[in-house]
Amino acid sequence: MDGGSAPLKVADRTGHRDLDPADWEQIRALGHRMMDDMIDHLRDLRHIPAWRKMPPEVRDALHLPLPLAPSEPAEIYQDIERLVTPYVTGNTHPRFMGWVHGGGNVMGMLAEMIAAGLNPNVGGRDHSAVLIERQVVSWSAEMIGMPPETSGVLVTGSSMANFIAVTVARTDFLGRDVRQTGVGAHKLTAYTSDAAHSCLPRAMDQAGLGSDALRMISIDRDHRIDLAALREAVARDRAAGCEPFMVTGTAGTVSTGAVDDLSALAAFCREQGLWFHVDAAYGAFGMLSPMLRPLLAGIEQADSVAFDFHKWGQVPYDAGIALVRDPKKHLAAFDHAADYLRREKRGLATGDLWPCDLGPDLSRGFRALKVWTTLRSYGTAALGRVAEQTCQIAAALGAAIEADPRLELLAPVGLNIVCFRVRADAAIVDALNADILADIQEAGIAVPSSTLIDGKFAIRAAIVNHRTRIEDALAMLEAVLAAAASRL
Ligand SMILES: Cc1ncc(COP(=O)(O)O)c(C=O)c1O
Repeated sequence: MDGGSAPLKVADRTGHRDLDPADWEQIRALGHRMMDDMIDHLRDLRHIPAWRKMPPEVRDALHLPLPLAPSEPAEIYQDIERLVTPYVTGNTHPRFMGWVHGGGNVMGMLAEMIAAGLNPNVGGRDHSAVLIERQVVSWSAEMIGMPPETSGVLVTGSSMANFIAVTVARTDFLGRDVRQTGVGAHKLTAYTSDAAHSCLPRAMDQAGLGSDALRMISIDRDHRIDLAALREAVARDRAAGCEPFMVTGTAGTVSTGAVDDLSALAAFCREQGLWFHVDAAYGAFGMLSPMLRPLLAGIEQADSVAFDFHKWGQVPYDAGIALVRDPKKHLAAFDHAADYLRREKRGLATGDLWPCDLGPDLSRGFRALKVWTTLRSYGTAALGRVAEQTCQIAAALGAAIEADPRLELLAPVGLNIVCFRVRADAAIVDALNADILADIQEAGIAVPSSTLIDGKFAIRAAIVNHRTRIEDALAMLEAVLAAAASRL
């Protein structure tokens, strides 16, 4: 069979049967084909649609009963090629500009295969994968400008990293007993801007504090947190018997890319005795660019920082990190003991600090390898230039929109995000722009996404992917105008 069949092994004399292939050479041939196909796929991305809607027969085919019997590997791969590959989100594509999705990279992809093959559990113990993760943590702290002893843990993404930060800040404020007793009658309050990501109220909910206890402070004209309003809110809460404990600044808001005044927030938190956290989900990689770094000034003073490698860092999904300045505080929020997780004096179970002591996960995959490989493959200067390039494309796109009377820029271009709409009568403008967005997505031309800016429907182009060129951004704009012309 075309390099791929590896029927299930027959049981040996003892009745034992493992899951390794009966014929390793057949699996090798199939694996080589998969690798070649995926490298070709990445090389040829420009020639496929940015997104394809799944036809009903594909949806149906992806609804299989629980497979009781084995299938041939080659047949499974055919299904992947036919049913999966053409219909994924498309964020590797140069004209994908939706949400804040990174483009991935081929070295990260190859590292992911090795990580899966080695399959280490990076929850803890004394092995190389734990050291690779520690290396990524210390590189991350250096990149942000935090001290070398900064603690950190790799997680799925910034939603989890922000949750870890809230939990550490809560435990630091109330003392580690809160882990046993709960918050009781304490009325803890935290603060962030109206433009902050929805994972922050969720983090408050998950940490047992309630999402209402996160005060969403108004933003200024540049979509940055209003510092006077923040000061008032903290004073008002203190007067009302609440216990303010944490402020989160955002470095790159999800809707417009605005960066809060992080130095001012750091000073305010110091003055008020509050935990200073920064959600730098995608903005953090700006620290690698001399052009963008000044915008993020103050991030290095944070008590904790959350960010993603899978956004501006272009590492394949998923990979985020929670950094905590004081390692003791980080540990105090998550360490735990169990008879079967004993640290021994010799052997594999040595080492005092295991990654499972720094977050909610016990079993953990080797996501650090694709981050380590990506950072080493390209170097931080090139990754910083990629971040810069996306901002330059966004600025050019913003200028093109402002120069065209048919279009309206709905927010200042913060970093790499452009929010705009086609002008039309108030009665139809939101619906028209929603239709235009769907038209160009469904045609596979480009994939921006949407948001609301001051209640107005906005087409939102987040230029994150390293493959996106200015021509791609302008092609998206042309497609928007063509779709508008055909509808008006
Ligand atoms: C500012 C910000 N914070 C948090 C998140 C959540 O990150 P993740 O999707 O990696 O959990 C995002 C996602 O876009 C974001 O832009």
